[in-house]
Amino acid sequence: MRLEEYIKNRLADGRIGEDVGGIISQLADAAMVISKTIRLSGIEYDLGAETGAENSDGDEQKTLDVLAEDIIINHLKHTAASHILSEEQDDPITTGQDGQVMVAIDPLDGSSNIAVNVSVGTIFSLMPRQDAPIACAGRDQLAAGFFVYGPQTTLILAVASDQAPQCFILDDRKNSFVAVGGAVSIPTKTEEYAINAAYAEHWFPPVQEWMRQVLAGKQGAYGKAYRMRWVGSMVADAWRIFQRGGVFLYPGDKREGYTDGRLRLVYEANPISFLIEKAGGMATNGKDAILDLTPESLHQRTPLFFGATQEMTRLNTLHHNK
Ligand code: AHG
Ligand code: MN
Ligand code: MN
Repeated sequence: MRLEEYIKNRLADGRIGEDVGGIISQLADAAMVISKTIRLSGIEYDLGAETGAENSDGDEQKTLDVLAEDIIINHLKHTAASHILSEEQDDPITTGQDGQVMVAIDPLDGSSNIAVNVSVGTIFSLMPRQDAPIACAGRDQLAAGFFVYGPQTTLILAVASDQAPQCFILDDRKNSFVAVGGAVSIPTKTEEYAINAAYAEHWFPPVQEWMRQVLAGKQGAYGKAYRMRWVGSMVADAWRIFQRGGVFLYPGDKREGYTDGRLRLVYEANPISFLIEKAGGMATNGKDAILDLTPESLHQRTPLFFGATQEMTRLNTLHHNK
């Protein structure tokens, strides 16, 4: 099955409207252009070069951050999206379209990896239009997904009525995404975790305690030997977790400005958490399900833990008992 057919099936029985179908299809077209840009433009330009500008969260913008965003915005102009909420913009972009759907995007996730040819991606969230266009709670998303530009260009996607997310691989010869694998499902238990342990000294006690037990291996309270993976692009870590399980943690810590971690609720944590819950996993800030949080500002950060339910439950318990 190709993405076109996936969309057509959902349009046919009213599970999604023309607006949502059109937006997903344009995002896929944009991702194909970004994928080609990454493969080819590096020959002439330094895609990882700093532009000299910063986004509203204080991150240095790289050439590809800006290019990817331009490509996506240009594609979304052909859709019914009323607003585009982007990591790279201080405020929502009003498109002038009178549609009832807003799109939040992280145009390029993992931008520090561009310069070293490690997987990066694009994250998206489709939401019902809000009066004051901040964002709805994650649970009310209409659809969400992300692309990974890696050895393969891939997509994982779910619309609200889907029981489970679906994975796709870009067929470069036909310029279309082809569905691969069955219903995505994350095992309850895992021996593989992703966290940037360089910040261990800054973590709060619940995460320090979880890590202590993990590192104690078979002698620890969890009684097993774990492996660690950390790509530095959340999309790539998340893709691995959707394929073979695991957990990802970006906790809040004591560094200045990091009380709520680094990842942003509206265009990073919410779409990932929407997919994670549909795949049978859990996504939490340590206390509440990410999808139950009410966004108060466009770029607000949140501690983010997602993946295997056994480890998520342990983390929640440690946070509640602290
Ligand atoms: P972005 O490139 O959109 O700013 O996101 C990068 C995020 C995420 O992808 C990654 O897991 C994390 O930042 C890495 O942060 P550290 O460098 O603090 O490990
Ligand atoms: Mn990001
Ligand atoms: Mn980004």
